[in-house]
Amino acid sequence: MLQVQENVDIKDYCTLHIGGKFRYFATIKNKEEINEAIEIAQKNNTKLFMLGGGSNIVFTDKVLDVLALKMEISGFDIIENTDEYVIVKVGAGENWDTFVSRTVVSNLSGVEALSSIPGTVGATPVQNVGAYGQEVKDTIVSIEVFDIENNNTLNLTNLECKFAYRDSIFKNEGKNKYIILTVTFKLLKKIPEIPHYIDVKKYFIQNNINTPSLLEIRNAIIHIRGVKLPDPKVIFNVGSFFKNPIVDSSLAKKLKNNNTDLTVYPIDEEHTKVPAGWLIEKAGLKGKNFGPLSVYNKNALVLVNNGNATYEDVISVRDQIIKIVKDKFGITLEQEPEIIK
Ligand code: EPU
Repeated sequence: MLQVQENVDIKDYCTLHIGGKFRYFATIKNKEEINEAIEIAQKNNTKLFMLGGGSNIVFTDKVLDVLALKMEISGFDIIENTDEYVIVKVGAGENWDTFVSRTVVSNLSGVEALSSIPGTVGATPVQNVGAYGQEVKDTIVSIEVFDIENNNTLNLTNLECKFAYRDSIFKNEGKNKYIILTVTFKLLKKIPEIPHYIDVKKYFIQNNINTPSLLEIRNAIIHIRGVKLPDPKVIFNVGSFFKNPIVDSSLAKKLKNNNTDLTVYPIDEEHTKVPAGWLIEKAGLKGKNFGPLSVYNKNALVLVNNGNATYEDVISVRDQIIKIVKDKFGITLEQEPEIIK
């Protein structure tokens, strides 16, 4: 029998530590429990809400009239093992970084640059998590989902997931329709590539490492993230608060010509990605205190809840930052974490 709790504090399930209550809450350990949850939700005239690690989400302070399901489906099953690659099917509730660590010690490459990212395996495809040149979409073969509308289980191929920069079907038409059950990855048995990132390259030079192993790459990423990103268990945050905006290449070129410290990332001839962290810092906001929230002093892309911030505070500070950056650069930032209100 599924154990359903009532009026559960949202704060405890969101790394920004803000939120009201979930009307109903239950933990899901297998597919069968999803059927039970659907019945309970129907009986109580409420909707299901899937919860991962809560590390990329901002909640309202109100009572959310939902049955929140904390995904705890586990599993790490090798489906295929060849000389070149391994196909592995992983339960959506597995901790992401534990999975990454397991791939690294097994000498399998493909997700090592995504070390130290908080959250669950099943949450990573939703926003197509990416860092240091890797995105989860690059290793995902397929995703097993439960279709709430049609009451069946199906497999979505990588293409069907419609992955893009910080985006997928699960943020759009698949939202509130699919529950991610397992994710199948293809990992390679080959010498890993060193991420083409200045911070990573610097780390290897400083540590006298010429041809890093997978474990050395993982350790480098853990170190670099540790410096730039606050541990959400200690400092309440949800990682990058803004997406890196994609702007007209002519505007990016103008900015770059006036600022030698700016690195931009061309997407195609007309579009260029500009780091939001740089824009916020240059707008004078790095470390700035907005009362209940601050811009993190080591990385302007991160908003920190100083302790008692409310949902309204987050929205107000977000809008102030967007306005200041827009006034200075003519670029409109877009928030990165999902908002549930
Ligand atoms: N920068 C500044 N000031 C800052 C922060 C950054 O000038 O306060 C500059 C850096 O000097 C660098 C550029 O901005 O030239 C880019 O910074 P960085 O390489 O640290 O990465 P990012 O663009 O800030 C993105 C992801 C991160 C991911 C890193 C590493 C987004 C929105 N964020 O950040 O993802 O870890 O790249 O690849 O794409 C997350 O999504 O929560 C997240 C942390």
